[in-house]
Amino acid sequence: MDVITIDRDRCNLCGLCIDACVRRILKEERDAVVVTDPALCILCGHCKAVCPVDAPQLKAYRADEFIDAPSGKDIPDPDKLLAFFRSRRSIRHYRAQPVEREKIERIIEAGRFAPTGGNRQHIEYVVVQSKERIVEIRDIAIDVLADQADRIFKAVEKHRTPEGVLPESLQMAALYSDSWRQLARLRSEGTDWLFYDAPALIVSHMVPLGNTSEMIDAGLSAMQMVLMAEALGLGTCFCGLLVIAAETEPKIKDLLRIPRGHIAPVSFLLGFPDIKYPRLVSRRRARVQWL
Ligand SMILES: Cc1cc2nc3c(=O)[nH]c(=O)nc-3n(C[C@H](O)[C@H](O)[C@H](O)COP(=O)(O)O)c2cc1C
Repeated sequence: MDVITIDRDRCNLCGLCIDACVRRILKEERDAVVVTDPALCILCGHCKAVCPVDAPQLKAYRADEFIDAPSGKDIPDPDKLLAFFRSRRSIRHYRAQPVEREKIERIIEAGRFAPTGGNRQHIEYVVVQSKERIVEIRDIAIDVLADQADRIFKAVEKHRTPEGVLPESLQMAALYSDSWRQLARLRSEGTDWLFYDAPALIVSHMVPLGNTSEMIDAGLSAMQMVLMAEALGLGTCFCGLLVIAAETEPKIKDLLRIPRGHIAPVSFLLGFPDIKYPRLVSRRRARVQWL
């Protein structure tokens, strides 16, 4: 089956699609645009998006999603956009209020439209809203982290000098191991300092291709989702600790229904914030070289 066909009745041979094609697989031949090597097509849709007469047809996608791009007034004002980016905070206090499915679907949509290397679109998502399952996953993750923390702690302590000083290279590990152990301590006091009692958890996963772009893909999609959540009045917090625990303990992937061979590079908590941040924060100055 052809991945792209060019509707000859519509095509006016303007050549825009030929120039836009990243794979250089479109060319004009005997008064028609032809696809020279369909197997090379990455289905990016640029040929259709650029065409003034909508001649390219891509069978893989829903035609009704190729709608007019926003223009002028619909594009966010740069100052407002930056303020919006800056106002997102990692939320660690959530209301005990479930998140409506429509909102989560819009969040996933935001992730779906993020770019992926080679347009692979290989990210899959798991949404967990069952309180019992969230707690089950959380408890396994905390146990895994506490266990790792003990091992790190022991390894690090061997390097402490008689004066009680740790080499600088191990200070970070000591700090982490301490905060991971604290998760178990806090849980015993009834405080969830891993998932923060969030009513929903979203995890991205994919078949590993051994390529750095997959981590970036997952991160980009997650960032778009997190910003969409923000626009919907929701709060989020990335949970790298769950990612670490899931790589160590396969039961976590099983509970998430993630195939064991998949990597799960990003997860974030989601819910209605029970905290307000009326002030933006500062960050280190950007270290930039202008060449
Ligand atoms: C990849 C990644 C993993 C993170 N993992 C955790 C985590 O496990 N637990 C947590 O509370 N925060 C986590 N965070 C949130 C960061 O601590 C937070 O983004 C940072 O302190 C800046 O605060 P802000 O997000 O409010 O700007 C993570 C953030 C990123 C980008």
